[in-house]
Parts: sequence; C-alpha cells; structure tokens
Amino acid sequence: MEILHVSAECYPVAKAGGLGDVVGALPKYQQQAGHQAKVVMPMYRTRFLYSNEWELVHKGYTNMGSYFFDYSVIKEKHNKLGFELYLVDIYGLLDREQIYGYGDDNDRFVSFQIAVVDWLSSWAFRPDVVHVHDHHTALIPFLLQHTYKYRHLAQIPTVLTIHNAQYQGSMDWSKSVLLPEWDLWKRGMLEWAGAINPLASGIKCASKVTTVSWSYLDELKYMSNGLEALFEYEKGKCVGILNGIDTQVWNPSADIYLKDDFSVQNVAKGKARNKQLLCDEFGLDPQKPLFVFIGRLVHEKAADLLPSVVGDSFYHIGRKMSFLFLGSGDPAVEAQLNGLNMLSQNDYSCYIGYNEQLSHMMYAAADFLLMPSRVEPCGLNQMYAMRYGTVPLVRNTGGLRDTVRDIDQHDGYGIVFDSATVGHITHAIWRACDLYGKSVEFEQSRIRMMQLDFSWEKSTEAYQQIYLSLK
Ligand code: ADP
Ligand code: GLC
Repeated sequence: MEILHVSAECYPVAKAGGLGDVVGALPKYQQQAGHQAKVVMPMYRTRFLYSNEWELVHKGYTNMGSYFFDYSVIKEKHNKLGFELYLVDIYGLLDREQIYGYGDDNDRFVSFQIAVVDWLSSWAFRPDVVHVHDHHTALIPFLLQHTYKYRHLAQIPTVLTIHNAQYQGSMDWSKSVLLPEWDLWKRGMLEWAGAINPLASGIKCASKVTTVSWSYLDELKYMSNGLEALFEYEKGKCVGILNGIDTQVWNPSADIYLKDDFSVQNVAKGKARNKQLLCDEFGLDPQKPLFVFIGRLVHEKAADLLPSVVGDSFYHIGRKMSFLFLGSGDPAVEAQLNGLNMLSQNDYSCYIGYNEQLSHMMYAAADFLLMPSRVEPCGLNQMYAMRYGTVPLVRNTGGLRDTVRDIDQHDGYGIVFDSATVGHITHAIWRACDLYGKSVEFEQSRIRMMQLDFSWEKSTEAYQQIYLSLK
C-alpha cells in the first residue's frame, strides 16, 4: 500500500513537539510492515537540510489567489529515515528557520498544501491514501474534493489524524480567495463558527478521522475548543489509535545522547550514574529524588502552575526533593521559572529553550516526571519516561489516562491525580517522595514500566485497518 503523509513536522528534520516524533516514526514502521510510506513537509532551513544529500524530483508553477509562485520538491537521496522524505520549497514563504511563529503562518501552510496537491496531480500513479496531520495540512481533503483544478483527484481516500484539537488554524473568510477556485456550494465544508476553520474542514471532508488516544477521542465530544458538536456529529468516522514510541530512538541501552547506557537489568545503577552527571551539571543534590518537567510552557501543559508547585512542595513537604525543568513558551512562565533559581539550595534549576540531547539525559536521570497537563491528546513524554525507568506523575486525562496505571492499583507503576491544581500536584509529589523511600516498591515499579510495550507495531496495524476500510 502506498501512503503519503503530509505534515508540518517530522523528526529529525524539524520538530516542535510530539507531532514531529510521530511523523518521524509511524512511516518507518509502516515501511517495515511492507508498505510504501512517504512523508512530504515544508523545506524549512534546518540543520538536517544542510547536512544531507538531495535530488530535485519536481518543479511546478501554481498560484495562491493572485500570488503566482514557483515551487520545487526535493527528495532525500538515501532514505536515511527509513522512508522516502520529500521537502517542498516556496521562495519567500517556506524558506524560514522556524516551523511556526510567523505572522503569515496561515498563508505559509495554505501555499504548502496547494503545492502538495499540485505536485500530486502530476504523479503518474495515485497513492492509496493521503494521510494528513493536524490543521496545517487539514485543508487537503477539501482541496482534493471541491476545487475545480484538482477535482480529478477526488477519489483518493484521505485520513486526518488530530494530534491536538486546541489548535485549528482558523482564519477570516477574506482568506478564501487564496484557495484554488472552489465550488461555492461547498462553503459549509470550510466553515466553522463564522470563519474558515481548517481543522473542522478536515473533519468534515476526510474519509476517516483518527486521534491519538481512546480517552481523548471521548473528551473531544465535550472539550475540543468549540468543535464539540462537530465531533458528536461526525463520531461515526472517528477512531482513537494510541501513539507508539520509536524504540530505536528512545532506547536507554543504545541512546546516542547518553554517556551511560542502561537496561532493565541494571536500572538502579544505570540511572544513578546518569543522575550524578546531570546533577553535577545543574548543581543539584543527587541524594534527593529528582523531579523533571520537559515540554512546552503553555496553559495546556499546566506549566503556569509549576512555580507554585515548587514553592508549595518546599513549604509543605520540606526541601527533600530537587526540580529540573526544560521548556520554552509563555514568557511570563519562563521568567518565573528563571526567577526561582535565586531560591535554589542545590535543589532547583531550569533550562529555558529547546534541547533534544538534554531531554534524553533528563528522562534517563530523573526519578520522577511531572505531567500535570490540562489537555493531553496522547503525550509521549510519559511513555519515554517509563521506558527510561522514570515514574510519571500524570493528571488523569487523554492519553495519560490510557497509558499510566496508578501504583495503588493492581500491577500499577505511576502516580495519577485528578486535577490540574497546585494542591493535587503537590500531593502527588508527596506520594512520590514516599515511594522513593520504599526502595523495593520503587525498584519494582521501575522494572514494570520498562517492560511495558508502547511500540509502534500495534498502532501501525490499527492504521492499516483504517486504510483498508477505505478501499
Ligand atoms: P506535545 O506534542 O503536546 O508537545 P508530547 O508529549 O506528545 O507533547 O511530545 C513532546 C515531545 O517534544 C517529546 O519528544 C519531548 O521530549 C519534546 N520536547 C518538548 N519540549 C522540549 C524541549 N524544550 N526540549 C527538548 N525536547 C522537548
Ligand atoms: C500533540 C499532543 C500530544 C501528542 C502529540 C503527538 O502535540 O499535544 O499529546 O502526544 O501531538 O500525537
């Protein structure tokens, strides 16, 4: 089966979060399962672009409204990622260093989608399915079905995977002129709440819609940033498929970012060595349990609560633990986290920014991972943490609910709490400190977690069933 993934991110080419990880892994496992998987994404100016070899596979000319542009498609020559990788370049729009964060992001992703569809229309053979991810690529099903120029592609089945429904790419109706001439009777297929809403359009037009955990699929019907009624209406074509993790990249016994590898056989010693190294680097006391947070410093992740959690934990539980936070996002939260450095007594530090290597070192070194997310469609951090023997402290929501079982339950291994409040998080930290003091139970839970199977193989099979249902 030939699958064309279209995405704004793909690790290691360009990654801002879990979307990149998933699109870097799923096609590789689909390829291993005997399919032909390709990924196409914008040609950002990232390090990966400059350190690999490319060949030009297509040059095209098309327009976005009155803006006519040339675009080119290049292919990575050696399939280093385990699948065919294509990058689309559009001068002035996609040739940027960052993935997101520009004032013209809507135009950039509309132009990318138009170029992808235009390129597709030049193919001799059609792919069996076009698989789009999140709002940046969710207009593609509409473009294939309802534009006059590309209507000959309308029979290609499409799958939309929603990694996060908080972000929908909504834009004013004045932007409708950017799209190739479309059937005006189909206005309703673009619209939600008085605007063009790419995510809503994708949900309406895609042959199937998937999201990244079973619990999040339920939550979307009552908590999806305004799309609740749409999810209720379209529930017949929506399916939950839990993400996997790339066990080749995230493997504590062969991790290119770690100085000291370890496995389930020597987890206590291995983690202690990694903890010592990290604590030395950040001036932390390695005798204390180490709690880490890794992620975007945004409301969804409840990052705004972290400064108070540190203060309340020190005050109510005592200075018995250390914290190390890695992330970037809301400038107010960044400033507060930086400010806490002044109060540190070898028990608090943070790194504001994005650092792939440090994230691996933290999963390996930490005793506990904090993940108090208000919204978490799947969450990969908790799965990485568990594979590295780090006990996750998670709020009972979305994919966190589907992957972490509380230590007080039969065969449990993590710590689960109900609310994203300072009180509940601090109580979870208190429970974690208690667990840390019971060395036998702590060790058992580490070993149990490391043996859990979060591999992609199961989920790859579930996607295969979805594709087959479209034939
Ligand atoms: P989301 O996609 O919502 O950000 P996920 O849990 O699915 O959340 O995935 C986050 C991914 O991004 C993980 O691979 C995590 O390690 C990584 N990550 C997030 N923030 C940073 C950061 N500041 N530095 C390095 N890696 C990060
Ligand atoms: C999104 C979600 C996250 C999920 C990731 C990959 O960014 O916020 O929960 O794990 O996509 O699907």
